[in-house]
Amino acid sequence: MKQQVGIEAIAVALPRRYIDLGDLARARGVDPAKYTQGLGGLEMSVAEPGEDTAALAASAVAKLLANRALDPSRIGMLVVGTETGVDHSKAVASYVQGMLRFPQSMRTFDCQHACYGGTAALNSVAEWIASGAGAGRVGIAVCSDIARYGLNTSGEPTQGAGAVAMLVSESPELLALDVGVSGTCSMDVHDFWRPLGRREAVVDGHYSIQCYLEAVSGSYRGWRARALGRDLIRSAEVPSEQLARIAYHVPFCKMAKKAHAQVRRCDIEDRTGKALDASAEAEETPRAAASFETQVAPSLGLSARVGNIYTGSLYLSLASLLHKEAALLTGKRIGLFSYGSGCVSEFFSGVVGPRAPTAINSAGLDRVLADRERIGVEEYTRILELPADRPLGTPPPPGAFRYAGTVDYRRSYARG
Ligand code: CAA
Repeated sequence: MKQQVGIEAIAVALPRRYIDLGDLARARGVDPAKYTQGLGGLEMSVAEPGEDTAALAASAVAKLLANRALDPSRIGMLVVGTETGVDHSKAVASYVQGMLRFPQSMRTFDCQHACYGGTAALNSVAEWIASGAGAGRVGIAVCSDIARYGLNTSGEPTQGAGAVAMLVSESPELLALDVGVSGTCSMDVHDFWRPLGRREAVVDGHYSIQCYLEAVSGSYRGWRARALGRDLIRSAEVPSEQLARIAYHVPFCKMAKKAHAQVRRCDIEDRTGKALDASAEAEETPRAAASFETQVAPSLGLSARVGNIYTGSLYLSLASLLHKEAALLTGKRIGLFSYGSGCVSEFFSGVVGPRAPTAINSAGLDRVLADRERIGVEEYTRILELPADRPLGTPPPPGAFRYAGTVDYRRSYARG
């Protein structure tokens, strides 16, 4: 097995427009504090019909290539994680390959399991390299999605859209993965799903939070046992505190806070062998809040301004964390938690690379946010009511891609 495998570089592509969640709350007659403090969001990306999953994915990969001056002939594998596919059969990865004129020698496919699809894509590429099958080549894992719950629903303030592309290689400048050290937890549940033919998700919101929390408990415990077995961490009162930071899947920012409290609860209850009683709970609550501020809050900046991007959400947290704190974190181990409704989840870890500050800088994340245009609720509503298959005809910005239309069931894309 190869010594080091992980994420060498990352790039993020977002729709060109966004809505302020305070504006949305006022239009819905809701106290804005419910969205900003109760759910933890500030803004939400809004995808127009031309900004479909394939176009966003290709735009993110194009940025990755440009930022790294990467020669496409070095890429042996391109895997897209998405739950917003554009065809029952044809992979988004094939569209991306076509848009970027990638070589035929590549292995290309999509991974689907709700928001976990991005982690399945990353694992596929990382394990291909770790096994030696990559034979010196690099791979790309892309997460691309559009989160839609529909107008005037309780899920409405937790939408978003965007793509995250990751270059995976034997030079993990951003994050060297602890390959083989992970915990998984899966169940057959109806917490959130997207029946064929529907654009909006069906969700049992509060139940979905319970499923997420049960999944994080199972996955974290599995990771902790393996990490202890490999001496990555040692037995302690709260073992999770040995992770410098933890990046979670973020359907809305408050969820990461709930998840983190749950991870700590697992640590404490497993040590004492009993559930927290009222007095232990009173002691733990401020500790969990303080630990959240240090271990988790630095990863939430982008999610608060982009919203949920399903498969890419965890990797937006990772990008956000490194953007804010790479210089503090080089050489330190961080935890990552991926959750896909239905459900499957995985807790895993990695060590931040020595060149992470430079590598994350080249992603230009401040510019990605600054380039967006704020729209009002009226325009947002108009966009959400547009048919998905009728692109706007707006030319894509330089280097980005847009869906251009369908003729004879064949989708085509334009490059700016
Ligand atoms: N000021 C401050 N806070 C306020 C407030 C106010 N005026 N009014 C309400 N709040 C708080 C509430 O106390 C609550 O906080 P706590 O959870 O800490 O108690 C929070 O705001 C939300 O309030 P509600 O629970 O009343 O909100 P809701 O019922 O309208 O819906 C939701 C919340 C269930 C998350 C809904 O937005 C939803 O269904 N979202 C989509 C599903 C989802 O994201 N699930 C997450 C797990 S599944 C997953 O992770 C996969 C995925 O990506 C979808």
